[in-house]
Amino acid sequence: MNKKGFIFDLDGVIVDTAKYHFLAWKKLANSLGIDFTEVENEQLKGVSRVRSLEKILSWGHKTISEDKFMELMSAKNTDYLSYISKMDEDEILPDVPKILNLLKDKEQPISLGSASKNARTILERVNLKKHFDAIVDGNDVSKAKPDPEVFLIAAKLLNVKPEHCIVFEDSVAGVEAANAANMVSIGIGSEDVLGHAKYIFKDFTEISNEFINSLIEN
Ligand code: BG6
Ligand code: MG
Repeated sequence: MNKKGFIFDLDGVIVDTAKYHFLAWKKLANSLGIDFTEVENEQLKGVSRVRSLEKILSWGHKTISEDKFMELMSAKNTDYLSYISKMDEDEILPDVPKILNLLKDKEQPISLGSASKNARTILERVNLKKHFDAIVDGNDVSKAKPDPEVFLIAAKLLNVKPEHCIVFEDSVAGVEAANAANMVSIGIGSEDVLGHAKYIFKDFTEISNEFINSLIEN
């Protein structure tokens, strides 16, 4: 059987954590008197914690000390973790286990490719860690998405060439990273946002077994 490398982003692809990042960043931005809506949030998806705070501060034209910056990063993460600590398997997005099981049946290697430093904690909470042959997250990279580093490391760990890898992503930065890595990008979300992906699906319920088979065979 052909072997491809299947790489999944985490937040907004496997689990519905994008809403918790939104709530935590909104609270932080508003506390600094900075407006924060879904529009700003879209630009932070897939973006590292440091870069996200830099962007929020620049939108609000704020300059702060390094100590204050570290304090805000830590406050955001504490807030975010308070949501994560209550998560369970119900927050796995629809049909994700079905697709992971199908890939396993087809003996396809699977990796996580996430910007989050909380990725392992989340996978454990929702009991999905065992499905992954490799995990690459925010602790393993020096360059954040849209740099392709995270996906290239995943390909290496899976021992699959980048051009034989398929990436599932919900963020603009993540699709850019997959394209830059010369991988097949599959956008999970809306066409308006992810138009630069090779394929786009609203969610995994729209992805058929035939489509997965065609990715493996082609
Ligand atoms: C990405 C999220 O997966 O991880 C971003 O889309 C988040 O919103 C980034 O900022 C870093 O996550 P964490 O958990 O390390 O703050
Ligand atoms: Mg994401």
